[in-house]
Amino acid sequence: MELNEFLRSLDDLANQAEQELSAANSQEAFEEARVKFVGARSGQLKALQKQLGALPKEAKKDGGQRLNETKNRIQSALDQADQRLKSNAANTRTGPQVDATLPGIRQHVGRTHPITQTIEHLKAIMGRLGFAVVEGPEVEDIWHNFVALNIPEDHPARDPLDNFYLGLAEATSKEAGDQAHLLRSQTSTVQIRVMEQQAPPVRIISLGRVYRPDEPDATHFPMFHQMEGLWVDRNVNMAQLKSVLRLFANNYLGGDVHIRFRPSFFPFTEPSVEADFLWNGNWVEFGGAGMVDPNVLRAVGYDPEEYTGFAFGLGVERLCMGRHGVTDIRDLYRNDLRFLHQF
Ligand code: DAH
Repeated sequence: MELNEFLRSLDDLANQAEQELSAANSQEAFEEARVKFVGARSGQLKALQKQLGALPKEAKKDGGQRLNETKNRIQSALDQADQRLKSNAANTRTGPQVDATLPGIRQHVGRTHPITQTIEHLKAIMGRLGFAVVEGPEVEDIWHNFVALNIPEDHPARDPLDNFYLGLAEATSKEAGDQAHLLRSQTSTVQIRVMEQQAPPVRIISLGRVYRPDEPDATHFPMFHQMEGLWVDRNVNMAQLKSVLRLFANNYLGGDVHIRFRPSFFPFTEPSVEADFLWNGNWVEFGGAGMVDPNVLRAVGYDPEEYTGFAFGLGVERLCMGRHGVTDIRDLYRNDLRFLHQF
């Protein structure tokens, strides 16, 4: 055999091996090619190697060198194909290939609860009207929840069936008196705490949880939120109360919301009213309000001859539900993500 012919055969073999191995797309095809080209017994490389001996003496060196190169080329084609098939197998095991350059799938991100959002909104509106935000404790004593608010001992609002007293027997006993504790049933408690701490003028709101042992239904829940408002100064009057509530309603519910007062009774206000907003064609009650009762002013050491004030207490859930069209208060506390994601 001529040297040239031998070299050409080697090159042809390497080219063919590279082509077939790069096209091999299964372990079987890879194995078949491997046996065909480099199989120990019948591989084509082996066959050519045998022909090396038949070359003229002076051609053996060049022929041997090319044979080695051919071996290396085929081996690296084998390695590449092997690598490729292994990494394909790994990818199919873990699912489809991921294109890391594609925009990601948006993860659900946590967000504030609709009631928290409402509270922030209410604070912002009332802040623009000049009301400072104050907080009070949820565990209250009898003095702040009832006595100072002019709610006498025999008043039905103090009934154990309507309140979460803590340590019920002691709390309702005569000796416990004003020292007994309960989960506050209203945010009006904060009025007392603020007025005990500072002299007039006072212009505050307080937002927070209140508790009453109500059976849950579409409009009741044993825990809910109120926004309490209090403005005490010289010459504060009922017209200002109505203006503030109307401005608030316009801001919160949007547009020109009509409001109306219906005569009512609360021990801590005189006169007292229920405040209704005209919402989607219906009058909806959003809370109570009135002029702070002189007895309350006296209880905190204010002179009712010098100062007057108005107060109001609105239901936060009701405001949130009115604005967002929620019809069942329990939806707010089921923690169903399908509901919460809508806010
Ligand atoms: N505390 C009352 C309630 O829980 C609401 C209320 C009525 C608050 C009149 C007030 C007020 O400040 O003046 O039903």
